[in-house]
Amino acid sequence: MSPNTTVQSVTILGATGSIGVSTLDVLARHPDRYSVFALTADRRWQVLATQCLQHNPRYAVLNDESSALLLAQELSRQGCKTEVLQGADALAQVAAHNDVQVVMAAIVGAAGLLPTLAAVEAGKKVLLANKEALVMAGGLFTKAVKDHDAILLPIDSEHNAIFQCLPNHRPDCLVQGLQSSGVRKILLTASGGPFRNTPLADLRSVTPEQACAHPNWSMGQKISVDSATMLNKGLELIEACWLFNARPDQVQVVIHPQSVIHSMVEYVDGSVLAQLGNPDMRTPIAHALAWPERIVSGVASLDIIATARLDFSAPDYERFPCLKLAQQAAARAATAPTILNAANEIAVAAFLQRKIRFDQISQVITSVLDKQEVSEPDSLELVIATDLKARQIAHSVIAAF
Ligand SMILES: NC(=O)c1ccc[n+]([C@@H]2O[C@H](COP(=O)([O-])OP(=O)(O)OC[C@H]3O[C@@H](n4cnc5c(N)ncnc54)[C@H](OP(=O)(O)O)[C@@H]3O)[C@@H](O)[C@H]2O)c1
Repeated sequence: MSPNTTVQSVTILGATGSIGVSTLDVLARHPDRYSVFALTADRRWQVLATQCLQHNPRYAVLNDESSALLLAQELSRQGCKTEVLQGADALAQVAAHNDVQVVMAAIVGAAGLLPTLAAVEAGKKVLLANKEALVMAGGLFTKAVKDHDAILLPIDSEHNAIFQCLPNHRPDCLVQGLQSSGVRKILLTASGGPFRNTPLADLRSVTPEQACAHPNWSMGQKISVDSATMLNKGLELIEACWLFNARPDQVQVVIHPQSVIHSMVEYVDGSVLAQLGNPDMRTPIAHALAWPERIVSGVASLDIIATARLDFSAPDYERFPCLKLAQQAAARAATAPTILNAANEIAVAAFLQRKIRFDQISQVITSVLDKQEVSEPDSLELVIATDLKARQIAHSVIAAF
């Protein structure tokens, strides 16, 4: 870092989650570069209290009212000066605040859309982990990035890898189109999750604990289940199309069980560039935080000798019907991805609550996509109404099982 660089203030939306905790770990390694402005969560006030005592943000925000009261009491008891705010407006407020330069968007699910959009509309440097925001409202979201001169950098390890493999002279990842960069296609890698080799008949009876036990990555529950169904890879395909201005048929999903290659880009001259590293989200987080510079992340050096082999195969759609559903929604476009995302969130929550079986997640999504009309997502109101309607249909589908 040059000695004249000022310290950047960072808001972390979703600070108590897996990405939030990894972000705080990287920030704590660079107090000369970053300070924590605001930390937010849904309701886990005890975790947020510990983070506030350690990082002293100006604001802490909880979505849930009673949790916010408990946090305020605890921080006052501990003599911590952090001001506690509550609710959706407060999330948007700390994302868009004048004193903030960088926003880590790491709320899980559709709840992340509005605060992330608030950061974009305030022209912030936005580090996007919340892929659901882009899946739900990609057109409106990317337009807002351009209209407000925000800088959008991908945190998903695959998209961060793709960004690292693209020509590095753009102001952010929203390139003009793959072709203008000389890129023929994107190879989006996927580990295949915990059930890559499980006999198909056994998938009916897998438990939430088994689905959340990812072989390579430690993540929140929702994305862990999405990885087990490979719906996550479908969401990532849609995310890649928006971020890199690609068509769905230009994104090839490749199973790569070792999770060492985080994705690849094939150029028209036949060159294939890959980004490799240990499966630890602190690498993409540090990369996006410091881009275009590089900073230490705390991630161990990749032992390429111990890695020994890298395997690749095509996805099996009988095993992973959710991936096919996402590819179809990407091709159908309009509000199909919004419906897919909402139906999946309800289905995954029902699976985690043991209300439906693992193999019923894809059935819920199929049913909701069949029952709901798609339309052009030309306003945020329409996107939010579509999301709400898909959730209602998903609940009624689950109730009828
Ligand atoms: N984990 C990974 O390795 C990884 C990798 C790539 C992309 N991502 C993406 O990053 C995002 C976060 O994933 P994660 O694994 O970090 O999730 P997570 O561990 O479940 O954490 C989610 C965070 O969002 C907060 N939150 C949940 N609902 C909220 C609401 N309604 N309003 C405000 N805050 C809310 C949670 O607060 P509470 O703690 O109070 O519930 C928590 O801070 C997801 O979009 C995921 O797809 C994650």
